[in-house]
Amino acid sequence: MRLALAVALAAQALAGAALAQDAESRRGPPFITTPDDVVERMLALAGTGADDFVMDLGSGDGRIVIAVAGRFGARGLGVEIDARLVAQSRENARRAGVAERVAFEEGNVLTTDLSRATVVTLYLLPFLMDKLQPKLLQELRPGARIVSHAFPIPGWRPDRTETMRIARQHRGQGDESRLFLWLVPAEVRGVWQGRDWRLRISQNFQEIEIEGEAGGRPLAVKEAKIEGTALSFSGEGFEFRGRAGTGRIVGELRRGDTATPLILTKQ
Ligand SMILES: C[S@@+](CC[C@H](N)C(=O)[O-])C[C@H]1O[C@@H](n2cnc3c(N)ncnc32)[C@H](O)[C@@H]1O
Repeated sequence: MRLALAVALAAQALAGAALAQDAESRRGPPFITTPDDVVERMLALAGTGADDFVMDLGSGDGRIVIAVAGRFGARGLGVEIDARLVAQSRENARRAGVAERVAFEEGNVLTTDLSRATVVTLYLLPFLMDKLQPKLLQELRPGARIVSHAFPIPGWRPDRTETMRIARQHRGQGDESRLFLWLVPAEVRGVWQGRDWRLRISQNFQEIEIEGEAGGRPLAVKEAKIEGTALSFSGEGFEFRGRAGTGRIVGELRRGDTATPLILTKQ
């Protein structure tokens, strides 16, 4: 029964996706919008605050960017391929009284510079998400948050997934929406050296594994984690917590009650 429901929901989502793709290929409305309660939750899930610069890629009628400024006090930029929707978004922002805190650009998300964004919002079909994936990873700074409505980024495990009930039936998705959140991880892959510690870190997105030695002895690392720039790992009798920057990991090594600084540099 549950399987039948899941299949029905997937079929509904695909039907909605097909509608969106059709609308996108015709470059004009009707297009599918994110319901307001989902917009609110997406931005909350990303921890959006006044210091954020949010980019909505494929911004439709501008509703996410307008909510960014109106309800979250942040600044936002919408990038949209359809010129008529860009014009409509600017008018909607003016009416909502947030025109000075937001901007809308006519453009292709695949060629837009993403480096200013601290939060990226997405409601795009998987083929576009797939193409965007390397760009998101290369251009966004570590710690930036990406939140997607309905579709995961192929090949990149989300840090969080949520299913929420929505107040009104939504075309293509019934009364449920799925949300996905990723934190852009710092790149820590490689060999790092500090004092008598030497670590070899392998990395696949936010999944890391550490092999190493300390004081000439092999180091058994049990848990290793990178969340944005925050790196932590632990083993028998020790725990490390630090921040990864360009070419340096700076942190604190704790053994029992004793904490000492440990700075590792990229070899
Ligand atoms: C499903 S709608 C989402 C609109 C809005 N983000 C929301 O959640 O309500 C996807 C939007 O992406 C736009 N779009 C599709 N491909 C695009 C591309 N390559 N570059 C920019 N915009 C694109 C479409 O015109 C459409 O307005």
